[in-house]
Amino acid sequence: MYVVFLGAPGAGKGTQAAEVAKELQLAHIATGDMFRDAQKKGTALGMKAKEYMEKGQLVPDEITVAMLLERIGQADCAQGVILDGFPRTLAQAEALDKALAQQKKAIDYVIYIKVADTELMKRLGGRWICRKCQTPYHEVASPPKVKGVCDKCSGELYQRADDVPETIKARLGVFHAQTAPLIDYYTKTGKLTEVNGEGGMTDIRKRILDAIKKGKPGRNR
Ligand code: AP5
Ligand code: MG
Ligand code: ZN
Repeated sequence: MYVVFLGAPGAGKGTQAAEVAKELQLAHIATGDMFRDAQKKGTALGMKAKEYMEKGQLVPDEITVAMLLERIGQADCAQGVILDGFPRTLAQAEALDKALAQQKKAIDYVIYIKVADTELMKRLGGRWICRKCQTPYHEVASPPKVKGVCDKCSGELYQRADDVPETIKARLGVFHAQTAPLIDYYTKTGKLTEVNGEGGMTDIRKRILDAIKKGKPGRNR
């Protein structure tokens, strides 16, 4: 099963994908996490991605598509995946459809997690992330039990370099200009469900699971 989580920066893609992937036993693939990991390792890919990420811009499609297709071909993705933060442009969506079609596969569900821009700004400004397991926390909405320490793995919490007001604004602009057209693209395939991404995290998870269980007319497995 292939599930795409579509949503603006801060919509809760990472928060929800981690839980839903566990529940449905799917791999959770986040292109942003892959780029940050490559940066930490200091690879050529990581250094290239950094140039774009620090400005809040998208990493070029050729680089991103090649990285993603290689990743979803790995063994742990055989039972299916939740794609968190991919595709983000029409070219990426088309490249993914084409690559899956070659293997007689297709995307089953697209969940669009909708959150107002004012709420997104608040969420990203207060976000802290675990260096080890990537769990996101929020200083007000979901603080860790001990300040600066991950509840799950005791890892150190940090704030992302692109979670500063200027770059958050740039990322929101990029979402509306380059990624929002995918809402139309996937609505036409009949696979998209819009889910209200505001409210309690458990309620939102239920909305997403309901959307997946209910299925959509366009699904093929
Ligand atoms: P990426 O890492 O994907 O970042 P993003 O899309 O900007 O999304 P975020 O991770 O910021 O938000 P999220 O939706 O995961 O929210 P979260 O669950 O953490 O991409 C970073 C960069 O990498 C891009 O700018 C680009 O340069 C590059 N990149 C990545 N993919 C690419 C691609 N496909 N093509 C090209 N470039 C690419 O939640 C946010 C906060 O809100 C947390 O603090 C959380 O605790 C809190 N929160 C969550 N849910 C709730 C709730 N219900 N109520 C209150 N608070 C909540
Ligand atoms: Mg994320
Ligand atoms: Zn952790």
